[in-house]
Amino acid sequence: MSRVSAFDDFLATFDGEPGYLNWAANGPLSPSVRAEVFADADLLGSGRPSSLALVADRIVQAKQTAAELLDVPSEELTVQPSATHGLMHALFGLSGSVISSSAEFPSISLTLERAAQASRGDLSPRWIDPQDGHVTPEAVAEALDADVTALAVSHVDFRTGFRADLTALREVIGPDRLLIVDAVQSLGIIEADYTVADVVVGHGYKWLRAGRGTGFARFSPAARDRIVPVLSGFGGVGGPLPVDELPAPASDASAYTVNAPDQLAVARLAVGLSDIREAGVVNVEGALAAHVDAILEIADRHGIPVRSPRDRTRRAGIVTLAPEHPAPLSAALANAGIVATTRGDTIRVAPHAGTSDDTLRMLDDAIASAGNEKFTSA
Ligand SMILES: Cc1ncc(COP(=O)(O)O)c(C=O)c1O
Repeated sequence: MSRVSAFDDFLATFDGEPGYLNWAANGPLSPSVRAEVFADADLLGSGRPSSLALVADRIVQAKQTAAELLDVPSEELTVQPSATHGLMHALFGLSGSVISSSAEFPSISLTLERAAQASRGDLSPRWIDPQDGHVTPEAVAEALDADVTALAVSHVDFRTGFRADLTALREVIGPDRLLIVDAVQSLGIIEADYTVADVVVGHGYKWLRAGRGTGFARFSPAARDRIVPVLSGFGGVGGPLPVDELPAPASDASAYTVNAPDQLAVARLAVGLSDIREAGVVNVEGALAAHVDAILEIADRHGIPVRSPRDRTRRAGIVTLAPEHPAPLSAALANAGIVATTRGDTIRVAPHAGTSDDTLRMLDDAIASAGNEKFTSA
């Protein structure tokens, strides 16, 4: 099948009710993921070793497809219960100072804090508070010194929608420090050079439409050199079940795992990843960018301030509206059947490639009918 028709097929799978603009929080399961759940449940119900092996094979597929999307060898991939689990393996095994914005999603900030507390002085957070919460090379450069061993950063910030420049961040920290990237809000929807990062974590329950339990994490050779697998469990020994022996963690990325994953979750992840790969990330990114442009145009036309970046290279799928009176606008959107996230004084709107014109029209109409003079500062 050609890429164009594969992408059209992908768009046709967005079969939910119009009004859904909350992909940055949660992605309704795709039809193929839903079908996979039933098929795998039947296979697991049979008890036949060959059927069980078919489901178990999805673990290999998930790692391979994630590795393809990241453009790294599949041995460097692990599956995890969540993105945060991957970050825990990375941050609890580090020492020195780790730069991070204090405004990061708690998967980074709280995990770093907990890891520092557990380290009894070996690891310390180096919090930065950059302007607008944007983790730029300049903001990182200001915080760098000889004690800094790593930078932990979201590729796309959950709140501001700002897309960090991974290549520039790598350049500024140099080759000897680790770059740890939370790619939850970018992997599968944004093409980027993920190979510049040593640790990349993601999950399947938003943009991949695969539900919870679908985390994954990549550990580069440099990461494996420098991160002690302190949370390694019996699934991390890289061999048969270690009964009556206490082997060291595996020498490959599997050291950063605890035990066998939930097969049904990994099967969903494998399908979610492969659907995106078949559709083509570049196509997904293009369609998503057009929808973000359309939402920016709607916001501008109604005079609603926008706090997320407008430059296509510095954004992904998040538009952060900052109306003067967020509560009535939030209520108007909810009443009109628009699903979005209100947090503090902002409303986060997040389309996907398959968001329909009907959904965008509903957004436009909901804002218009609510009376936009209530929301603007002009
Ligand atoms: C940037 C970012 N990282 C991590 C997470 C949470 O990931 P998980 O639940 O897989 O740990 C989210 C969820 O919203 C997020 O936006």
